[in-house]
Parts: sequence; structure tokens; C-alpha cells
Amino acid sequence: MRKRRLRSAEWFEGPGKNAFMYRSWMKNQGLPDDAFDGRPVIGICNTWSELTPCNAHLREVAEKVRRGVLEAGGLPLEFPVTSLGESILRPTAMLMRNLASMDVEESIRGNPIDGVVLLVGCDKTTPALLMGAASCDLPALVVSGGPMLSGRHNGEIIGSGTDVWRYHQEVKNGTRSIEDFLSAEQAMNRSAGSCNTMGTASTMACMVEALGIALPGNAAIPAVDARRYTHAQLAGRRIVEMVKEDLTPSQILTKTAFENAIKVNAAIGGSTNAVIHLIAIAGRLGLKLTLDDWDRVGRGVPTIVNLMPSGQYLMEDFFYAGGLPAVIARLLEKELFDGSALCATGRTMGREFTGAPCYNDGVIRTFDNALLNEGAIAVLKGSLAPAGAIIKPSAATPALMTHTGPAVVFENIDDYHSRIDDPDLEVDADSILVLRNCGPRGFPGMAEVGNMALPAKLLKRGITDMVRISDARMSGTAFGTVVLHCAPEAAIGGPLQAVRTGDRITLNVPERKLELHVNQAQIDQRLAELRSLPPSVGGYQGLYVDHVLQADLGCDFDFLVGKRGAAVARHSH
Ligand code: FES
Repeated sequence: MRKRRLRSAEWFEGPGKNAFMYRSWMKNQGLPDDAFDGRPVIGICNTWSELTPCNAHLREVAEKVRRGVLEAGGLPLEFPVTSLGESILRPTAMLMRNLASMDVEESIRGNPIDGVVLLVGCDKTTPALLMGAASCDLPALVVSGGPMLSGRHNGEIIGSGTDVWRYHQEVKNGTRSIEDFLSAEQAMNRSAGSCNTMGTASTMACMVEALGIALPGNAAIPAVDARRYTHAQLAGRRIVEMVKEDLTPSQILTKTAFENAIKVNAAIGGSTNAVIHLIAIAGRLGLKLTLDDWDRVGRGVPTIVNLMPSGQYLMEDFFYAGGLPAVIARLLEKELFDGSALCATGRTMGREFTGAPCYNDGVIRTFDNALLNEGAIAVLKGSLAPAGAIIKPSAATPALMTHTGPAVVFENIDDYHSRIDDPDLEVDADSILVLRNCGPRGFPGMAEVGNMALPAKLLKRGITDMVRISDARMSGTAFGTVVLHCAPEAAIGGPLQAVRTGDRITLNVPERKLELHVNQAQIDQRLAELRSLPPSVGGYQGLYVDHVLQADLGCDFDFLVGKRGAAVARHSH
């Protein structure tokens, strides 16, 4: 068989002036002649950053990938891309997901790269890198940094994020002291890695494994477990083979693969953010993944993974119980996963995952003892969200899944903060908290504020959950009966903008309905008085507001949707 000419040969092959220049400058790093003998060049695309604490260990992981690439006869070249620290970045890391994806796409396309390993961890780093790599469609393999060890505080197991919300609620209702709250800081996040709950980072690590674009076992191995390094080294070896086989993302990330991932998201009680990210990743491959797909495909898949925020355990427990392979094996057994999909290993997903053992039925439940029978993300439609809104039933209160109540409206997040704890606020347990102008354009980046904390006076009465509705997102570590991503958003004239305090709203999850009990003519009349978008601030935020798509379309930029390939551009010298 004739050897395929590698893309990197466009730079490094031959006696010409340009090849001389490309090689010569690279040799200032001490590379020998045979580094350019036609071996695959593997980019190690790294989101390491001390400002992204969840990814701060990725240099060590990169070293292990490098070792694997060398063993397999490739040339590893590590490069940095924009890193997004969910816990630090203001106003929200989501504002920069698309920016990072552009950085990744152009870095891959503009350099002599034949295949790429994507080193990710914190929430948005996974979709950002996969979106960029998908648009190029060169062989790509994701390696996640792995979750932190379980948090331990004063004899309690505590989870990243989830227990911040819980502890804070307890401080507000007077059952926990502020000193105790503050002493949990280092105990909650006590090792390298990403959030140890089934938040967005863990969910996305599961999604890439379920999609087949990572090696089996990727999601759950703790960041500090030696097996994380072994996994990285094996990924380094495998990407060299993938280049030789010309195994590209578009062959792995098919519609079937996305449907499998939707089912896995239901089974793990995954983050609502996965809805937006998977739609955006699919869009980069020219695939149309819709909210209706999410509802149709996920329906009937029970949640069997008993992890916070839906359940009780943490990612470390999940790993010891068998991790995602055990979940996929259970789904395969029930024919809830299409085993014919292709894995990055070159074999089918069925071949890779069938029979994977489970070591703890308390953490990964059987279907007979599921955490929730209808666990999938539910897509709601109605006069309040004509293009759709979502709710995560596994994190909600069953008794509130069908509820009608009067709205208490907050114009934006500042309005919410200034009034929510006002003793005179007219609100009771039946009220529905409505927050608007926090969508992709109204709060550029679409803030994670949808899980509004309840009014202090109701918390003190022992109320722990209420229906909350917004055009915002919420953290994957959060919980509650929270309706999110209302589309179209208020800031562009979505009906959420028309709600007034006292209007009655019905949430009916079994019937997938979200209705505002105001007639359409009145809604239209109220919308006619719509406030306009705040003036553009220019710069990147201005670009964002001008081009971001609505939540139901994945919040990508309109001009980034689609696969543009990795054709080598002409050189300029
Ligand atoms: Fe980085 Fe949760 S804040 S993974």
C-alpha cells in the first residue's frame, strides 16, 4: 500500500528554501534531522493555565501524551490555546467558548499538524477544543484531565459546587455558621483536577467518551491517579495510528454517536450545559442536532448514576464503581445505546464496552433500581418558550414537575440581587421566580444564574425548592426545579420579556409544556414596548452579541457553524 503523504510534508519535505526555513527554526529546540523524516506530527493542544485551576496539572499530562507519541514514532509538538477557568473568569467562561474554539481551529489549520490530542478539563475547555478540531476535521483525540478527589470536610463528604449551594443555603437559613462554611474552602477542592461532582466538566468528559472521540475510561479516572497518566500515554500512541488510518472526527462524530451521547447524559444525570455544547459541536460537523432530538432520544432513559447533584456520590466513587464503561455496558444490554458507532480505537463502541463490569450497584444503579425512571433532559415548549426551554428532572423536586403559580419577575440579575431578600417582597412557596435578560445576548455569554437562590424568608420557613424560570444557564453542579435556556431570549423580544409579576404560569414536565396564561394579543402588545438591547460595548463582546446564536441552536457564532477542513494555505515567504 502506498504511504499517504502527510500534511506536515507541505512544510518539512524537500530541499527548497521554505522547507529549510521551517526545519531550521524548529531545530532551535534541539530537534535532530530525523524529526522531519516524514513521521506524523502530533499537536498537543493544551489548555494548561494557573488561571484555570482545574487544568493546572495538564503540563504533566502533556508529558505522558508526548511519551506515547514518541513511542509510536510520531513527533509531538505541544502548543497552548486560550484556557477558560469556570470558577474565575468574568463575566462567564461561556463568553469565551467560541473565541477559544477559533483559536484552536486556526492554530491547527495554520500549523504543520497531522493529528491532535486535545487536553481539556474545566467545563468550557472541552467543547471549545472539540468545536475547533471538528471544524478542521484532522484526526483528533480528547484526553480529559480527570476529576479531583472527593472533598472531605469535618467528617462529611462534600462535592465541588453542589455543596457550595447547599452550605450557602444553610448559612442563609441559619443552620450553618459562617465559620464552618469558610472552613470548607480547601476541603472541597483538595487535589488537582476538575469538579468532582457530575457537573459540566465531568459531564463533558463523559460525553467525549460516549461519542467515541476519547479512549474508553477517559471520564472518571481521578486526575491524580497513576492510571490517568497511563491513559494519556496510550492516547499519545493511539493518535499516531489514527493519523496513519486517516481516522477523522467526522467518521466518529456521526448523528448516531450524538444520539448515544444524549442517552448517556440521561443515564448519568448530566449537566444541562451539555445540550448547548453538543448542538454546537454537531454544528461544526455540518450535523443538525436539535432540542427535539434531545427530547425524543433521551425519553425513557432512566438516570442510573447516583452522583451529585442528582444523587449522593462523587466522581472518585464513580471511577471505583466502573466509571462510564459500566454505564455504557448497562445501556448496551438494554439496547439503549447503538453499539455499531465507531470508537477512536478503530473498533466499534459495542466491542469496546460490552460487558464492562460494575463494582458498586449503589453508585451505578441497575435499571430495576434507577435513581429516576425519566431522567433525561426534558424540552419544554409553549407560549413562554416557543423555540424551547429545558429542565433537568433528576435535579428537580418531583412534586413541582407539574405546577401553576404566580410569577415574581426580576428584570435582570442585579434586580434579582437587590430584591430577593427584601422582607416585603410578595412571594410564597407557590410563586414562580422569573429572571430575564440573562440569555446569550442579554447577558453576553449567558450567565449561570438560572438556579436563583430562594428568598431568605422562605428558606427560614424550611422551603427548599421553588419553580424558577429564566433565559440563563445554570452550573452543572446546581440543582432545583429550574427551567433554563428559554428561547428566544427576552433581550431579543422573546415572550419572557412580556411576563409581569402576578401573571400565572404553568410548568408541566410530563406534557413538556411551559405556558404563560396571557393571551397572545396581550403578549404581543407588551412586547411592542420592548426595551432595546444595551448599546454595543465594541470589541469581542460586540462581536459576540452581533453573532451569537440562540440557546436552542448551541450559542455558536453564526459564521463558525460548519466544517471548513484543514487545507494547507499558501506560504507567504
Ligand atoms: Fe473547573 Fe468545575 S470549575 S471543572
